[in-house]
Amino acid sequence: MNTQSNQTGRDRILIFDTTLRDGEQAPGAALSIDEKLTIARQLARLGVDIIEAGFPFSSPGDFEAVQKIAQHVGVEGGPTICGLARATQQDIATAAEALKPAYKHRIHTFIATSDIHLKYKLKKSRAEVLAIAEEMVAYAKSFTDDVEFSPEDAGRSDPEFLYQVLERAIAAGAKTVNIPDTVGYTTPAEFGALIRGIKENVPNIDQAIISVHGHNDLGLAVANFLEAVKNGARQLECTINGIGERAGNAALEELVMALHVRRQYFNPFLGRPADSEDSLTNIDTKQIYKTSRLVSNLTGMLVQPNKAIVGANAFAHESGIHQDGVLKNRLTYEIMDAQSIGLTDNQITLGKLSGRNAFRTRLKELGFDLSEQDLNKAFVRFKELADKKKEITDWDLESIVNDETQQTPEHFHLEWVQVTCGDHARPTATVTLRLPNGEELMDAAIGTGPVDAVYKAINRVVNVPNQLIEFSVQSVTAGIDAIGEVTIRLKQDDRIFSGHSANTDIIVASAQAYVNALNRLYAAMQHPEKSEAAAAKI
Ligand code: KIV
Ligand code: ZN
Repeated sequence: MNTQSNQTGRDRILIFDTTLRDGEQAPGAALSIDEKLTIARQLARLGVDIIEAGFPFSSPGDFEAVQKIAQHVGVEGGPTICGLARATQQDIATAAEALKPAYKHRIHTFIATSDIHLKYKLKKSRAEVLAIAEEMVAYAKSFTDDVEFSPEDAGRSDPEFLYQVLERAIAAGAKTVNIPDTVGYTTPAEFGALIRGIKENVPNIDQAIISVHGHNDLGLAVANFLEAVKNGARQLECTINGIGERAGNAALEELVMALHVRRQYFNPFLGRPADSEDSLTNIDTKQIYKTSRLVSNLTGMLVQPNKAIVGANAFAHESGIHQDGVLKNRLTYEIMDAQSIGLTDNQITLGKLSGRNAFRTRLKELGFDLSEQDLNKAFVRFKELADKKKEITDWDLESIVNDETQQTPEHFHLEWVQVTCGDHARPTATVTLRLPNGEELMDAAIGTGPVDAVYKAINRVVNVPNQLIEFSVQSVTAGIDAIGEVTIRLKQDDRIFSGHSANTDIIVASAQAYVNALNRLYAAMQHPEKSEAAAAKI
């Protein structure tokens, strides 16, 4: 195979994951540094080519997260680690500094090119933007050979001006030019034509990879990208579960599975024989489901049940006619196998008598490589669960491991919670929380229901004003003894904080999820500069 084309990715599609940058801009998705590292590790297992780990100049926390990911995940043989920077020297130098530890690193710099952004946001002329783009790409190039340039709001920019900016950015050293539909405005045919126009009108376009980036305001991001691929795009910028600013970004799992399931359709656009079975991306599709669950759990952003590929109903057949067809032959109503995204049958794997070794081995098989400390914590939870639940499935294991290894900064620790309720009792809760200095605080409250009583009691202890805006319980497996996963979101001023927890007792899970969210809120109150910088992102 041609090494040059391999390096530039022209004979396959590069997957650029921006869950930790653009995805994290979703309201309330804010992740701790350790949570970002956990996600980055999983993205590397998934096989993404590039991880956009953050926007280092935006806050000290983002800087540290990018640096840690560069150090621990950007190792030899791992993905390229990328940092975002506006087209300013300070932003670019800060990104370069944070990315230093990575074996392969990329600086992604951007400036808007649409007239509307130039006039109202930048207050600059086209000539000024052209000069800045060229100068800042050259500046970024002084730190690394791998520079990506984005003309923000390209979807609404004058194509003739766009061609000029891209030509100058490539001449200054950009190896990737990324075309963002920042406001999710274009339609597939328009976006495809935009990419074709760039290919045909930017004289030095052969020296760069064309990338696409898009938001889902009209629900068209994935369709736009697939049209872009047909017209020459070879890098797709996307996020797990499609999370991101407003309606989100193009969803990685949808793009990857569309390219996988329909590879015979897409092969010729990449110059391959139509019947080639070679993968169009480097993604290990079997890691998709697990990555989706991890991101959902850590960000607190639930996946809608009918979401393509990773939604709870994506592989469920409800109608009798469909069920009958599938029983006769799966191909009647299934275009892909649930196992191809790593959704194993709800396998019963372990029970009460299973020992530590069996536990460790099964976790390894499921792709969890835990430290000794995390393994110990997860094993204790497993034993507790095995006392309550006869058969423990892979999904149960995944749920307790994700829960135990979640890295919420802990100021308030839930010691215990007790509730009385029933049709002849006023729901009453007593809770005890422990502070870092060991002090234990206890209080009680009456509520409209048991969860309300617990939350009121916790509020009396912590005394941190907030408004609960979302509460949801989902069961991990079928059966009355299933683990319940509680996800909550709460709001203080304009900021949203999420919390997640899993337990066979949903009252305990509810209390723990609430305490997790309060811990995040509390951490933000201690470091307001981090959240202000985060709010001021892009
Ligand atoms: O949506 C957008 O335009 C962006 C750029 C920074 C690429 O996120
Ligand atoms: Zn974006």
